Amino acid sequence: MPPESLPPTPPPGSPWTADQWEAIRARDQQLLVAAAAGAGKTATLVERIIRRLIDPAAPVEIDRLLVVTFTEAAAAEMRGRIAAALQRSLAQDPANSHLRRQLALLERATISTLHSFCLGLVRQHFHQLNLDPTFEVIGEHEAHMLREEVLDQVFEEAYGADDPGPFLALVDRYGGLLGDEALRALVLDLYDFARSTPWPEAWLERTVTRFDLPEGAGPEAFREWTDVLLQDAALRLEEAAARLEAALAAARRPGGPAAYAETLAEDLAGVRALRDQAAAGNWDGLAAGLTAFTWGRLRPVRSGSCDPDLQEEVKRLREEAQKVVRALQADAALSRPLQEHAEELRALGPHVRTLVDLVRRFDAAYTAAKLEAGQVDFADLERFALRLLLDPEAPPGELRPSPVARELRRRFAEVLVDEYQDINPVQDAILTLVSRDGGEEGPPNLFMVGDVKQSIYRFRLAEPRLFLGKYRTFPPEPGGPARRIDLRANFRSRPAVVDAVNFLFRQVMNPGVGELAYDRAAELVAGAQYPEPPPGARAGEAPVEVWLLERPPAQGQPGAAGEAGGAPAGGVPGADGSPAPGDGGGPGTAGTGAPAGGAEAGGGDEAGSGEAEDDPGYLTDIEREAHLAAQWLLQARRGGLMVWDKNLDGGRYRPFAWRDAVILLRSTRTVAQKVLEVLQAAGIPAHADAGTGYFEALEIQTILSLLRVIDNPRQDIPLAAVLRAPFAGLGLSPEDLARIRLC
Ligand SMILES: Nc1ncnc2c1ncn2[C@@H]1O[C@H](COP(=O)(O)OP(=O)(O)OP(=O)(O)O)[C@@H](O)[C@H]1O
Ligand SMILES: [Mg+2]
Repeated sequence: MPPESLPPTPPPGSPWTADQWEAIRARDQQLLVAAAAGAGKTATLVERIIRRLIDPAAPVEIDRLLVVTFTEAAAAEMRGRIAAALQRSLAQDPANSHLRRQLALLERATISTLHSFCLGLVRQHFHQLNLDPTFEVIGEHEAHMLREEVLDQVFEEAYGADDPGPFLALVDRYGGLLGDEALRALVLDLYDFARSTPWPEAWLERTVTRFDLPEGAGPEAFREWTDVLLQDAALRLEEAAARLEAALAAARRPGGPAAYAETLAEDLAGVRALRDQAAAGNWDGLAAGLTAFTWGRLRPVRSGSCDPDLQEEVKRLREEAQKVVRALQADAALSRPLQEHAEELRALGPHVRTLVDLVRRFDAAYTAAKLEAGQVDFADLERFALRLLLDPEAPPGELRPSPVARELRRRFAEVLVDEYQDINPVQDAILTLVSRDGGEEGPPNLFMVGDVKQSIYRFRLAEPRLFLGKYRTFPPEPGGPARRIDLRANFRSRPAVVDAVNFLFRQVMNPGVGELAYDRAAELVAGAQYPEPPPGARAGEAPVEVWLLERPPAQGQPGAAGEAGGAPAGGVPGADGSPAPGDGGGPGTAGTGAPAGGAEAGGGDEAGSGEAEDDPGYLTDIEREAHLAAQWLLQARRGGLMVWDKNLDGGRYRPFAWRDAVILLRSTRTVAQKVLEVLQAAGIPAHADAGTGYFEALEIQTILSLLRVIDNPRQDIPLAAVLRAPFAGLGLSPEDLARIRLC
């Protein structure tokens, strides 16, 4: 039951919505707070912590909370927010020694990434894990080099084994064209994936047995193989059908090629039938249908009897549909009956066993190498923590807590997790083991917040289905051991942004491609209140704009400086309501009035004089985009755009400043510098956080290796890197290095 001190409705004057308040005050349940970006999930989590700390009826000590964030920066920010809230409470109640103690304990509180938490646990219990207490955690790069070295050994041994037959057969099949590179990558991928599951050995064994299909097995036995392929085929056929529907509609329009309609309707019926087979999970039906499928002939259209543009459009749509279906027909896997696949899968079984053995050998050798060097890698931290927390007697599949886990369950009043959608199975197992499940240690105390639409770490083996599983099974009603609370309002963005996001996502997101329907429960609802801007001023309610930059025709061709890019003008904030930067009405090849620097950036003959100077056609795409952004920003400044600043005097409007703008890039590594140059040339101060790339650059890595060797020359890997570096001037080949190593 929620403590008496927290009323059932948000206190008057507090900003919280009723749903947020529920998420703040609900107790003794596993809680999943699911909401889109900017809905106040993190804010709610922090408020929940603060309420527990300052609860006069049942105050909690801060070191009895485990708060898991995804980055150290997020942890630091959370600490800051908690400190500020504690200070506010203390200002109201200066004699409160409990609050004072919480502030003092804050630095020691477990508000951290899961890795840091695991590291602490492993350091504390190193003896149980047979680890050297001075173990060192190696970074990704060092781990990468060590892994490669170990893999070399494992492969060498496999080549030199007494009976290398099975291994050589595997290399033959999966090594790749140039040797065994593809196979090496496969071994590492399998190893990493296995280790992201709580029971890697069981997972590996299951990988092998999946290929042991019994003779005469029915379609059910193939489900785990066929489902994903059938779903994908159904999705692609759906796409083909949509093209044909559009083609049919165009053919039937006034001026359309009506003579095509009959054939198009037949095509459409045929493609829909195929899609139905795929959607119904009928493998053999789809295979037979794809083999038999043919396209009808379009009836000729008398020239001049229809609009040639519409005719072209219909043909193009039909060709796109044909491309999709032909790709499926050409897919050898899809057009064969299941029994043929069964034989092939059985034939693959021995190779998979050899592969999995290789993974096991790599695992053993890599573990031994790290142990010898007193090192652990990032994944080890989670694995070791899991080993400490899991009852060694428990069979695979059962998360039975060890005494260490039980102790932590008693210690933590609550376990709170931000960004839960990015959790992987091992991490989830750890959280399950350290939080209560309603058993003898007490009522459930796991609090998770997340948004599956923001799951971005799948490449790091995050498993959003863990979130989805809870999302689908936790009931919204209070009272049970588990509960889901949806927050709907968005407090980060103005209605114009919220509408645009909904508009886009409604169209592109469905359970097939995005794992979730973008339905009313998923969409954003603008919740933030913005006071009216001062009279006459423009504030950020402009519609979201999409600017299309067309590539200019090659220089010197007619039209190079005339056909603007067709961007929807309008809405660039100017006090006078002027539609767009420059007078050209669009950011295309002409008339955008490239800011200063445009003409300096390479010039060439074409940029000689007059209009041509404004033509950024000789720029790269990213430079042209940066020019456009610079234009927009300059216009926003000149046009007197006002922004709402909630931190200023308790909230007021002020003129737009450069720091209010952000430019997001798909990757900063290669293009951030170019964008910066363009902005700087336009007189816009800017900063790019391209930080992560720096230490990974080869030159920097080499210099770091040199520093390591200077510090301690008895380190083979850094030494090898230095010896091979161009500045060493030795020109050593790998063979030379091998010889030196053997001496
Ligand atoms: N009820 C509210 N009234 C006003 N502002 C709020 C309310 N709830 C949250 N906010 C503010 O909305 C902003 C977004 O909140 P928050 O960062 O917690 O969202 P989130 O759901 O964690 O987003 P993300 O998915 O990006 O992590 C913050 O500035 C927060 O202070
Ligand atoms: Mg958040």
